[in-house]
Amino acid sequence: LRVAVLAGGPSAEHEVSLQSAQAVLDALPQELYDPFPIVIDRQGRWPVELRRGMADVVFPVLHGPYGEDGSVQGHLETVGLPYVGCGVLASAVAMDKVAMRRAFTAEGIPVTHGVWFTERDWRTTTDAAGLVKPLEYPLFVKPANMGSSIGITRVTSSDDLTAAVELALTYDRVVIVEQGVTARELNCGVLGGYDEAELSVVSELRPLAEGWNDYEAKYHATIDPVIVPADLPERVAEEVRELALRAFRAVGGYGLSRIDFLYEEDRGRINVLEINTMPGFTPRSIYAKLWAASGVPYPEVLHRLIDLALA
Ligand code: DAL
Ligand code: MG
Repeated sequence: LRVAVLAGGPSAEHEVSLQSAQAVLDALPQELYDPFPIVIDRQGRWPVELRRGMADVVFPVLHGPYGEDGSVQGHLETVGLPYVGCGVLASAVAMDKVAMRRAFTAEGIPVTHGVWFTERDWRTTTDAAGLVKPLEYPLFVKPANMGSSIGITRVTSSDDLTAAVELALTYDRVVIVEQGVTARELNCGVLGGYDEAELSVVSELRPLAEGWNDYEAKYHATIDPVIVPADLPERVAEEVRELALRAFRAVGGYGLSRIDFLYEEDRGRINVLEINTMPGFTPRSIYAKLWAASGVPYPEVLHRLIDLALA
């Protein structure tokens, strides 16, 4: 099978994608697959034109807007190339934190409190504090569309709100502000089709600094913040898995996703933080570790994903 592995792309997660894609190329068993890379540069230029039949299947190992938000998936649909992972709608809904929260709340899936506003709302308001009024510090200020913590600031006082919003606005015209909570961050992997998806064990991502992990902590820390499986009562792990499946279904997921949670241990409350339709994908990434700990080694994950793409 000829597998076109898409890598890079114009999003701020270009670098992360190159690493994920290289790992996929290295791990696809040679006796079964004939993989080749297609690197999309930072300006969104492709070295080849996509044509029907140029590959048996496409593996879009792209993170962030453009590659993970349904744009490339739509391109593959129109060309008629089968591809790994979520389709157009799930990709788009999962990349947009406002749309994602709407999908979750419509399905009764618990999320932390949050508000959102547009660049115009922000520039024309005479009461910046009023825009985030129902929330209490600390807050997380995020671009609506992005990944890997890029453009996100943890804000502990109103003095720092403006800088945080301006940073988020360099990535998107919509900003989402979420209530910071004292919680453990948990993760769960989904692998499978819409009706028969499997759930992994649950992991914990420990904060390396000030209650959360920014881009540096996620990719350049010398200590590994991931604990697999997380030290949790079985009842909590079960609830996390159940919510992971509901979150996957709420966006219409297919193939794979990693769902992240905030577990407020003292209140016994589990919030869904987000769903990532193309999570970091090296063998050292959380998604691969979750499956390895669940008895599915990395090459087998790739194999199953390709099968699902061709199903
Ligand atoms: N957005 C990064 C790649 C992740 O979710 O792992
Ligand atoms: Mg994400």
